[in-house]
This record gives sequence, C-alpha cells and structure tokens, in this order.
Amino acid sequence: MNILQEKNILVTGATSGIGFRAALDLAGKGANVIGAGRDAARCESARQRILSHYPRAKIIYLVADLSEQNQVIFLAENVQNLIQKNSTACLDILINNAGLVSEKKRFTEDGIELTFAVNHLAPFLLTHRLLPVLTLSPDARIITVSSNSHYNTWFNPKRASNPVLYNLLWAYKVSKLSNVLFTAEFNRRNPDLNIHAYAVDPGLVNTDIGLKSNGILAKWIWSLRQKGGTDAEVPVRTILHLTSESHENLNGYLYWKDSQPKQPSRAAINTELAKRLWEESCRLCKIVDYFAK
Ligand SMILES: NC(=O)c1ccc[n+]([C@@H]2O[C@H](COP(=O)([O-])OP(=O)(O)OC[C@H]3O[C@@H](n4cnc5c(N)ncnc54)[C@H](OP(=O)(O)O)[C@@H]3O)[C@@H](O)[C@H]2O)c1
Repeated sequence: MNILQEKNILVTGATSGIGFRAALDLAGKGANVIGAGRDAARCESARQRILSHYPRAKIIYLVADLSEQNQVIFLAENVQNLIQKNSTACLDILINNAGLVSEKKRFTEDGIELTFAVNHLAPFLLTHRLLPVLTLSPDARIITVSSNSHYNTWFNPKRASNPVLYNLLWAYKVSKLSNVLFTAEFNRRNPDLNIHAYAVDPGLVNTDIGLKSNGILAKWIWSLRQKGGTDAEVPVRTILHLTSESHENLNGYLYWKDSQPKQPSRAAINTELAKRLWEESCRLCKIVDYFAK
C-alpha cells in the first residue's frame, strides 16, 4: 500500500523550486496536499501545473506572506479549518520549506530582519500553531528545509532579529543554522512521542531563490551559481524518504541529505545555543508555552 495515500501534508513555499516539486510529487503519490504561497496568482498557477500532471491530485493552495506573523497565524487557522472539514481531521506532515535571501537589510512589519523572520521564525510559529492538528496524527513529521550553509556559523540569538552588521550570506547562514537548532530542540522538548522533526540539506539546487533577492549583486552571483545545481527532484527524494520511512528506520537522526543521515555542525547540536534561540524565538513570536495544550 502507498503509505502517503490519505496523508494530509502542508508544504510551505509550494509555488516554485523545491517546494513546488515536493507538492507535485506528494500529490502524485495520492497525498492530500495543501500548498502555501505568498501570491494568489502564483498559487493558482502552481495548482494548475500540478493538476495538468495529475488530474486527480488532491491539491489546495492557501495564500499567506510568511514574513508577517499575523499571516502565519492566519495560515495555521485556515489549515486547521480545512483539515477539520475532513473526516481524518489531522495534519500528518508539515514541510517548512519557504525561504529567501535578502541582499539588503530589511525589516518585516513585526520589526524583525526579513531573512530570520521568513526562514526561521515563520516555521517556528507555524509549527507551534499547528500542534493541535499535528498531535492528532498517529505519526506526525515536521520537515524543515535547512542548508549546508549552516556549517561554520555561530550567532547570538538575541541579535538575530536585528544584526548589527548585515550581510546576505551571514543572515542566510544564521537562518539555516536556526532551522537545525529548532529541529533538534523541538525533539528535545516535545512531549508528544508521535511527532518527530527532521532537517533536510538539499545541496545546491537549480532554483530561482537568488534571483528573487532585492539586489543586483546577489542576482548576478546566483545566476552563475545556480547552473551547477541539481534539479529540485533530488532534494525532494530526501523529503519523500522522510515522509515515507518509519521513524524506527530513520533511527532518530536529525539532519538528512540524499536520503542519508549527515552530521550537522557542532553549533547545530549545541544545546545551550538551541535553548537560547528557542527562548528568544518564543519572545519574538509572543509564545508563552510552546507545547501548551
Ligand atoms: N536552491 C538551493 O540551492 C537551496 C540550497 C539549500 C537550501 N535551500 C532552501 O530550500 C528552500 C526552498 O528554496 P528554493 O531554492 O526552492 O527557492 P524558491 O524556488 O525561491 O522557493 C522558495 C519558496 O518560498 C516562497 N517564499 C519566499 N518568501 C516567502 C514569504 N515571505 N512568504 C511565503 N512564501 C515565501 C517562494 O514564493 P514565490 O514563488 O512567491 O517566490 C517559493 O515558493 C529554502 O528554505 C532555501 O533556503 C535551497
């Protein structure tokens, strides 16, 4: 039996690149897929492209700009409403994939540096808000798309929302290290044994991520670099592996590349850094008790 059939899966950033490919492949395997994107027209175009591949795909898109915490909360509410209309009434898999790079230092409406807000705080808050439906699944997974950029990085969580010296690459590295720290700390703190979190390293992938940056230099560098990247199908294989294998077969490993466990950086498994990031993220998202029922 296809294990993904009838699973309810949310993929953020499902309008392009890795997220689109994940939504396509998961829908093709019979899962109930909810894609999230920041632009209604791009969401509809992605939905149509999936239906043109798989006319019977169970695919819905919801619109939310994840740079705004209100919209993250609104997305979670919409996902819960959608799922509760369905008799299975749970979310089995959350794929935190949406991400960006920003050449210029920008702040969100919540006053938080944009890269940190979208790449780290949005998954942190979205996961928290979706816990009521994730806990109803007998085997829930939270898969967060990180990057090998997280290596050779260290930061002060108290400064991440407003770094003194801003640099595109460093802000991105901090956000991707935060993805692994979040995943590890989630597993340490999570009282529900039916929910497991994993982080994925996609490798270099030929997507348009750098072309969407707000600066000419990043666009130019990425236009050269992206050509060496793989097709999005490659990291999506790892995502599919993490959605389909039993938790026992995944052996409790945290960080995955090419469907194999990989050692994350020393900073990524530093429990003190993870604790400090967790506490600061709760403060920035106004969360009093992350796992409160
Ligand atoms: N490409 C690589 O080599 C690579 C390597 C390591 C890690 N990653 C990670 O992989 C993930 C996916 O990136 P990608 O390469 O597939 O890039 P991509 O094609 O640009 O996809 C990024 C997705 O995130 C969405 N997004 C961006 N900002 C958003 C916001 N404020 N609110 C809601 N959605 C937003 C984008 O929406 P639009 O379609 O509207 O732009 C798009 O759907 C990211 O987390 C990235 O850090 C990528």
